[in-house]
Amino acid sequence: MSESCSISRRNFVAVSTALFAGATGSAAGTTNRFAELEARLARRDLKDIYKDDLPTPCMVVDQDIFESNLKKMADHCAKTGIHLRAHVKVHKSTEIARRQLALGAIGLTCATIAECELMSQAGLKSILLTRQPTSRNNIARTVALAKRDTTFGTVVDDPLAATWLQEAARSENVRLRTVVDVYAGLTRHGIEAGAPALDLARQVDTSKNLKLFGIMGYAGMAAHTHGFEERSQKSRSDLSGMLETVAAARSAGLPVEIITGGSTGTYNVDSEQKGLTELQAGSFVFMDTLYRQIGSKNNVGTFDDFGSALTVLSVVISKRHPGQCTIDAGNKALLKPTDEVKGRPDVKVVNQGAEYGLLVWKDGDRDLKLGERVEIYPSNLDMSTNVYDRYYVTRGDRVVDVWPIMGRSGAAQR
Ligand SMILES: Cc1ncc(COP(=O)(O)O)c(C=O)c1O
Repeated sequence: MSESCSISRRNFVAVSTALFAGATGSAAGTTNRFAELEARLARRDLKDIYKDDLPTPCMVVDQDIFESNLKKMADHCAKTGIHLRAHVKVHKSTEIARRQLALGAIGLTCATIAECELMSQAGLKSILLTRQPTSRNNIARTVALAKRDTTFGTVVDDPLAATWLQEAARSENVRLRTVVDVYAGLTRHGIEAGAPALDLARQVDTSKNLKLFGIMGYAGMAAHTHGFEERSQKSRSDLSGMLETVAAARSAGLPVEIITGGSTGTYNVDSEQKGLTELQAGSFVFMDTLYRQIGSKNNVGTFDDFGSALTVLSVVISKRHPGQCTIDAGNKALLKPTDEVKGRPDVKVVNQGAEYGLLVWKDGDRDLKLGERVEIYPSNLDMSTNVYDRYYVTRGDRVVDVWPIMGRSGAAQR
């Protein structure tokens, strides 16, 4: 980090001069710097913009690592025959979703109807809503989206919700793709495997305005199980009831086109076990520190199949005590003690305030200095990406692209 920091400091003078050349007078130049940066980003004029020019805290994507993660998953799917229906709740970005589809993903999975609408408005197809809609608002929007896009579908785990969806779809004269969500070890959703799930599949199949499309089993407890063997066993046992239900449904003549589930943690477990036809993995695009701890097939200590591509960029704002400093990313930036500091495994994130983060290190380790740039790997992508409005995509210290993070909060986004 010290080297990148000194490079960035040297760059700062040259870059600031280049970026803000043309500002009239030094005082005007100073006050107009941020406005000029925003204007340049808006017209995608990214020449000579560097990390040091960015307002902090902000989210930074390492383009090379990100692209390699996407390619690695695409290659894995092509080689093993499992499909990717990429979960977008992690990134909430049409730019990223579009790249995933271009690399062979067969569709997208979303946690909210707002995410589905955003992806669909961008022209992206084959979206599956993985959270059953039950409010009048969400049911109406689900049916409206199905009317605009026949490749869109939703999950259900309750006969009552299936009845509500059938009714809403009938009144709009829509046929809604419907996937039966079967319990797979995570108690937050999923109908009990066996007779209850089979009955629900039959109900969907005989509902005139619903089209039984497949079965989902999301083994969410397996995803973060530490150790490859333990994770494989957990996934196998958590998916077994759902897979028996699939077999029974097929024997009963019910159409089960897709068997969907899986996660980043189980991506190579699921492709080996041959139960699912598709993976809903999401986190692999960036990775977070909690996922890195679960260990991979070939590395017990670290799940390093995919690289850490996302950091929160912050700056040291106070350095008054030995062995510690304060940065400008705190609770509002969702800083956590399980976060890690890029290039400084010895530095710990210990506690924080709303706009302040505290970093500590042992006496004798290299100090972090006032004004120094610090990049933090977040612990949970879904939560952290939700509090920023854009990704600054970077190559080395240079900003090469800016992508909006959409559908995060506000009434229109729920
Ligand atoms: C329904 C569903 N599918 C798939 C995933 C997998 O995501 P990840 O690859 O980020 O673990 C999630 C994450 O929570 C999920 O809720």
